[in-house]
Amino acid sequence: MKPKHLKFPYKWEDRRPLMADGVLYVPEYYDDHRAWSFPSWQEIFCNDKPVTIEFCTGNGTWLAEKAKDLSRNWVAVEWNFERVRKIWSKMKNYQLPHLFIVCGEAQVFARDYIPSASIDQIYINFPDPWPKEKHAKNRLFQAPFIEQLARILKPQGEVIIVTDDPPYSEQIIREFHAWESVFPGPYYVTEWEGYGTSYFDTLWRDKGKTIRYFRFKNS
Ligand SMILES: C[S@@+](CC[C@H](N)C(=O)[O-])C[C@H]1O[C@@H](n2cnc3c(N)ncnc32)[C@H](O)[C@@H]1O
Repeated sequence: MKPKHLKFPYKWEDRRPLMADGVLYVPEYYDDHRAWSFPSWQEIFCNDKPVTIEFCTGNGTWLAEKAKDLSRNWVAVEWNFERVRKIWSKMKNYQLPHLFIVCGEAQVFARDYIPSASIDQIYINFPDPWPKEKHAKNRLFQAPFIEQLARILKPQGEVIIVTDDPPYSEQIIREFHAWESVFPGPYYVTEWEGYGTSYFDTLWRDKGKTIRYFRFKNS
C-alpha cells in the first residue's frame, strides 16, 4: 500500500469524528467532539493489553518499529494528513495489528476522547519547539496539555519526551516540576540504548545536535 491509497473520508463541510480502516479522524474547528462516543481501548484493539501513545508521530518511522511488539497496543497521533498517510502505509505494509492511528490535534484528542487512567506510556519524540517568542503559545508542553497527560495516564504511568532544543528542554523541566523524574538532575540523559530512531532523530544527529531524553512518572 502506498500513502496515496488512503483517501480523506469527508469534505470539510461534512467533518465529524469518524473511524475508518484503522484511522480515527478528529476534525478541526469542530465543537461537538464529546457528543461522539469514543469506543473503549478494549473495543478498538479487541484485547486488554497496555496502551502506549505517541503524540506528534510524524511519518511513523519510530512507532512502526515499536508496534512490531505485539505485547502492547500502540496509538499514533498526528494532525498532518500527509504524514498520517505515511503512518497508515507502514501499518498496512508491516501488518501491524496493534497500531491505531488518530488524525487529529494532540490536545483535543487527549481532552475530549481519551478515558481517564487508561494509558500506560506516552511518548513525544521531537515536539515542534516553536523557537520564536511570538509563537511560544503554540508549544504543546504547557499546563493544559500536561494536566491532560496526568489525567489519561494510569498511576505510575510514564511520559517520555525527546528533544534537540535546549530552551524547550528548560521549559519541559519547568512544566513537569510536580512530576517525579526517573532521571536525576539535570533530569535527562543524552543516550538511551535501544530507544529507536525517528526521522527527526536521524536529521538532528546528522547535524551533530545533542539529543535529550526526559522520563517523568505520574503520581
Ligand atoms: C518535529 S516533527 C517530529 C515527528 C516525529 N516524531 C519524528 O521524531 O520524526 C513534529 C510532528 O508533530 C506534529 N504535530 C505538531 N503539533 C501537533 C499537535 N498539536 N497535534 C498533533 N500533531 C502535531 C507535526 O505535524 C509533525 O509531524
